[in-house]
Amino acid sequence: MISALIPAAGSGSRMGDHGPKALIPVLGRPMLLWSVEALSKVDGVGEILVAAPPDAVEAVKAICKEANIPRWRCAFPGGRSRRESVAALLREAKGDRVLIHDAARPCITPEWVSTLLNELGSHRAGVPALPIRDTLKRGNGGVVRDTVPRDGIFAVQTPQIFDAELLRGAHAHGIPGGGDVTDDASLVESVGGKVRLLTGDPRNIKVTFPGDIEVAEQLITGRAG
Ligand code: CTP
Ligand code: MG
Repeated sequence: MISALIPAAGSGSRMGDHGPKALIPVLGRPMLLWSVEALSKVDGVGEILVAAPPDAVEAVKAICKEANIPRWRCAFPGGRSRRESVAALLREAKGDRVLIHDAARPCITPEWVSTLLNELGSHRAGVPALPIRDTLKRGNGGVVRDTVPRDGIFAVQTPQIFDAELLRGAHAHGIPGGGDVTDDASLVESVGGKVRLLTGDPRNIKVTFPGDIEVAEQLITGRAG
């Protein structure tokens, strides 16, 4: 059984002052609901758990109740970092596999997530990845310092899929030096786990800045048409 875990406890500071990012409306419904609904339609997903900002847990529970989505185990208080929020969900998850998906990526479809699961097969860890199109520069003080070779460089997305025991071990181990991480695969890499590169979807954007809401809405609307 797969446990789908949705970190949604961020404040969305880069969006400006909107309250929790996961609750900002996308086509009239809270952003996180798009991901919950898509994941509820994926074969093998037996439960869906969401980490909410501690002061928004009740609001998310109300959304959960109203939406009445099967297998949604609703809201748990998240932590100060994404990593702590995922760790809180991992403590609750019952599946032998976990699929971690950011609430900030509302444009996923059940069909695409199913293709990721098929591609992963029996491997223990996988992330959707896209080759970089742009030329990469390292800058300093508004000036280009050098060009970064982009051979073998990928932009990775969520959902990221793991054997639950592997990810729990990696979370318990943490990062040498105690730094923070922006995804779960980084933790698995740091304990020597092999993470497969799966086929990413360019439409699976991460809502980060205010203009991204409109882009996400267009992507979802375009898909329906
Ligand atoms: N997240 C979380 N708990 C945190 C921080 C982030 O669950 N303490 C989640 C966010 O809700 C989001 C995902 O991790 O779904 C990716 O984070 P990001 O896009 O950076 O969202 P925020 O941290 O909310 O935004 P910002 O960095 O602009 O404040
Ligand atoms: Mg953040």
